[in-house]
Amino acid sequence: MQVFSKTVSILSITLFALLGSSAGFTQTLTPTITANDAAYQAFGGKEGIKNVVDAFLPIVLADPRIKDKFKDADVERLGFLLTEQFCDLLGGPCQYSGKSMRKTHADKDITNAGFNALAEDLQIAMDKQGIPSSLQNKLIAKLAPMQSSIVTK
Ligand code: HEM
Repeated sequence: MQVFSKTVSILSITLFALLGSSAGFTQTLTPTITANDAAYQAFGGKEGIKNVVDAFLPIVLADPRIKDKFKDADVERLGFLLTEQFCDLLGGPCQYSGKSMRKTHADKDITNAGFNALAEDLQIAMDKQGIPSSLQNKLIAKLAPMQSSIVTK
């Protein structure tokens, strides 16, 4: 009898630990997923991001300050990778699959002025798509640290 009740209590301790920890797991994970996902959702998900990129590229390609850099660009590939990268940065269910920012831009002689021009064009595109400025700032804040890898001149 003693052995039996010991076994029962060990079993219930194990069950409690398992259920308890899985409940704790759910409780701690759920708010994290929601918080990380919020900017992506507010952007309108992948569709909203793609609309911003589709508005952004023609502005860049027509911008006299930087358009020459893109004369040999594969614009379709660039659009695909930018959409993927922004989705990734905003906490969406995407993983950027392109080259590193340092490697891609290494031979492009990009200046701070060029970088700022491109950031300005992105803001114009986001304005066009009705992205609120607080949300625009979230994406810009994710891109800003890339400046030191992209600017080489
Ligand atoms: C935060 C700023 C920037 C981001 C996030 C960014 C992102 C990217 C990405 C994802 C690619 C494609 C990489 C690949 O092919 O694997 C790329 C390529 C490229 N970027 Fe940037 N870039 C930025 C700034 C700039 C600036 C300021 C310029 C020029 C003024 C520039 C010019 C180019 C060019 C010319 C290519 C190559 C396109 C091609 O050959 O098809 N980028 N960039």
